[in-house]
Amino acid sequence: MVPTLENLDFNGKRVLVRVDYNVPLNDDGSIVDDTRISASLPTLKALFEKGAKQLVLMTHIGRPDGKVVRTLKTDQVALRLMKLLGKTVQKVDDCIDIALPDTPVVMLENLRFHNEEEANDETFAKKLAEYGDVFVNDAFGTAHRAHASTAGVAKHLEGCIGLLIEKEFKYLDVEHFEAPTIAILGGAKLETKLPIIQRILPKVEKVLLGGAMIFTFYKAQGLEIGNSLLDENNLTMAQMMGNNDQLFLPSDIVIAKDGDDGENAKVVPKEGIPASMMGLDIGPASIEAFKGILSKAKTIIWNGPLGLVEKKPFDKATREIAEYIATLTDEGVNTIVGGGDSIKIVDKLGLAKQFTHVSTGGGASMKLLEGKKLPAIEALER
Ligand code: 3PG
Repeated sequence: MVPTLENLDFNGKRVLVRVDYNVPLNDDGSIVDDTRISASLPTLKALFEKGAKQLVLMTHIGRPDGKVVRTLKTDQVALRLMKLLGKTVQKVDDCIDIALPDTPVVMLENLRFHNEEEANDETFAKKLAEYGDVFVNDAFGTAHRAHASTAGVAKHLEGCIGLLIEKEFKYLDVEHFEAPTIAILGGAKLETKLPIIQRILPKVEKVLLGGAMIFTFYKAQGLEIGNSLLDENNLTMAQMMGNNDQLFLPSDIVIAKDGDDGENAKVVPKEGIPASMMGLDIGPASIEAFKGILSKAKTIIWNGPLGLVEKKPFDKATREIAEYIATLTDEGVNTIVGGGDSIKIVDKLGLAKQFTHVSTGGGASMKLLEGKKLPAIEALER
C-alpha cells in the first residue's frame, strides 16, 4: 500500500512537496491554463490544516534540457499559486544549494534547469531531500517518470502521495469502474492504444473505437482505406482483435483528400473509401450509434480524439461526443477523461467542469489505464 496524508505526521514539520505545475504557457511565459495549480490546492491546504510549518514546492516546467530558459522559470506559477492559495509564496532563484526563506510557502526554481533532475542523480536528490522533514508527492502528471525530485527524494525522506494522486488513482482504476462501463478510444497511434485495449477489454462492456487508428482495423478486414493512416506493424494484431464483438468500429467515415480539404469533405460507408481519399473523422451514423451505446453506461472512460480535431470540419464527432458525455454526468454517470489530447479538447470546449473527472496526467494516465506501475509511486511503497 502506498502511504497517504493520513499515514504521516505533519505537525510542526517542513514539508517538501512535488507538484506538477508543468502548465501550458504562452510564448512570453504567461499561463494559458492553471488547472494543474488549482488541482494541487486541496493537498496544500490539508497540509496546513495538519499543522505543517512550511511547504517547499518543487516542479518542472517544459523540457529545458539542463539550461536556464527565461520563459520556463517558476515565477508565474508562484504568483498564480499565491493568488489561489491566499498565502505568501516566496519564489527562490534556484532549486539547489539555496537558503530557504522563512515564508509559509517556498517555490523552488524549475528542476529541469539542472540535468541531474531527469538523470535521477543521487547527490541532487539528497540535496533536495534536505529541504524537508517529510515528502509529499502530488505530481500525478509526472508520476510515470523516475526523476530525482520524485523517485530519488523518496529514498531519503519518509513520504506519501497527496490528495490529487489519490483522486487520480480512484478514477483511473480499471478494477473499480462501476458497471456497465463503456470505453471510447481514439487517436492516431494504434501502438499506444493496443495495450490499453487489451487491458480494459475484460473490465468493460464495449470499447468504441475512433480516430485514425481505426483504418488499420479496416485494412485488416480487407477494406480499401485509400490514403488513411495505416500501422503496418500492428496489422496482424488488429486482425486478431477485430473479431472481438466487444470492439465497436464506426460504420461511416468522413473523407477528404487531406486535412486541408475540409470544404470537400463527404460521408461514405466504411466500405466506400476511394483509393485517392483519406478518412479524417467518424460519420454521423456512427456518432448516433456511439451515443446509443453510451446512453446505457454507468461509467464512461474516454481517451483520444475521434477525428482530426485540429482541422474543421473533422472535429465534429469529437465535439458532439464530448458534449453528449458531459450531459450524462448530470444523470449520475461517472464520466472520466484521460490522456493529454482528450484533456486539451475538453478544456478547449469549456466542458472540463462537466465531467466527473478530467485527469491532470497525459502519459501517466495512459500508463495507469494500461495497468503499469508508476515509478514515482513505487518509490513511495518501498
Ligand atoms: C506532462 O505534462 O505530461 C508532465 O508534466 C510530464 O512532462 P514530460 O512529458 O516533459 O516529462
